[in-house]
Amino acid sequence: MSLLIQGGRIVTADADFIGDVLIDGETISALGPQVAPPADAEIIDAAGKFVFPGFIDPHVHIYLPFMGTFAKDTYESASRAALVGGTTTLIEMCCPARSDDPLEAFELWLGKGERSACDYTFHMGVSRFDGGAESAIREIANRGVASLKVFLAYKGAFGVDDGELFATLSLAKELGLIVTAHCENETLVAELQKRLLAEGKTGPEWHEPSRPPRVEAEGVHHLMTFAELTGAHVYCVHTSCGEALAAVQAAHLRGVNAWVETVIPYLVVDKSYAELPDFEGAKYVMSPPLRDVRQQPTLWNALRSRLISTVATDHAPFDFAGQKEMGRGDFTQIPNGIPSVENRVTLLYTHGVAAGRIDLATFVDAASTQAAKLFGLYPRKGAIAAGSDADVVVWDPDYRGRISAADQEMDVDYSAFEGWEIAGRAETVLVRGKVQVQGGKFTGELGHGQFLRREPTHF
Ligand code: URP
Ligand code: ZN
Ligand code: ZN
Repeated sequence: MSLLIQGGRIVTADADFIGDVLIDGETISALGPQVAPPADAEIIDAAGKFVFPGFIDPHVHIYLPFMGTFAKDTYESASRAALVGGTTTLIEMCCPARSDDPLEAFELWLGKGERSACDYTFHMGVSRFDGGAESAIREIANRGVASLKVFLAYKGAFGVDDGELFATLSLAKELGLIVTAHCENETLVAELQKRLLAEGKTGPEWHEPSRPPRVEAEGVHHLMTFAELTGAHVYCVHTSCGEALAAVQAAHLRGVNAWVETVIPYLVVDKSYAELPDFEGAKYVMSPPLRDVRQQPTLWNALRSRLISTVATDHAPFDFAGQKEMGRGDFTQIPNGIPSVENRVTLLYTHGVAAGRIDLATFVDAASTQAAKLFGLYPRKGAIAAGSDADVVVWDPDYRGRISAADQEMDVDYSAFEGWEIAGRAETVLVRGKVQVQGGKFTGELGHGQFLRREPTHF
């Protein structure tokens, strides 16, 4: 079965022209200013629309036992949400507890993906490093997982100690895996939390002061030192501030192979949201925290200059009722996370492209192509090219609407962006040639998503 996406403005990270994309089965077979389709081809008219490669969210949590509860989404809800937002590939953090068997954990997370409507893969979390963990990492890498995740935060839960960090990075270097890392100094967090609580500062507005920019920069500096001495390639997840970016820049000057991710909440919301009255601020508690609004121009500039490679979400959905509320009277007990897998691309387009902060090429690169390149998916994903998977987003730049929890696919009882106006939306979305979204609504098939095997590339 052939399908022709006709007459759209095809925009990738390195090309921009009006033309046609021909899809045969699951792959793109031809593209150009005019492509003659086979007689029986189905036509999608893309005149006046953008045609983008499917977007990739390289940092989400779907199954996540965390802070005494579980993240709300399943692959059914999260993949539908991702798709209506234009995201066709998810990279989930597989986050075993320290006491878990890593192979069993990997199997558990893998099984959760079976009902996914979009493609997916994992960063394998390393929360303990010993002989058993080492052989598990080797096996999981052989099974197509080309990236790891470490936490330099969350004392006693996921965090690794320095010996384990050194061993993990050394093994990653040997195997060519890239190590993604949550960078905050966990001792400083614990001490600052204790001090604030002792002073009676218990509301969500105290979350940011308990993990100020210097705490994050210290975590990044720490990771950079270990990357420098092991030669491992590292990727700082959810980078929120100029202080942390400066630590990466300093490491770049020393020859460290380091890449930077920010996440959409840092670009569009700030710490004043966590100060909202009546505990509303809890909806905006994530780690590292939302920062002073003056950090936002720094982040946009770093995105434009490409010091920031990717814009992810760190989607971590917890209901306000019953979950965020666990932290009433003690901000350290508020489950961390802001649900946004559905909103990332639309918000980046609205506040980035439409607002004139970034150009279209940067938008596609940061929301799709860079993640594909860094995580061993390119050019299968992140490209519109002959031979690439036919993951395609037909984007309507003229659409205007508002975000509301009432009509979202994410299985969570609020939206951090309630009532916000959006400019543009994913109108039609294809995953490996199959139309999964039409008219901005999910019309596709759960279970169509595939686990993506990846080869190591970071030697
Ligand atoms: O607040 C956050 N970031 N929640 C999810 C877990 C993590 O740290 O990535
Ligand atoms: Zn994190
Ligand atoms: Zn995360």
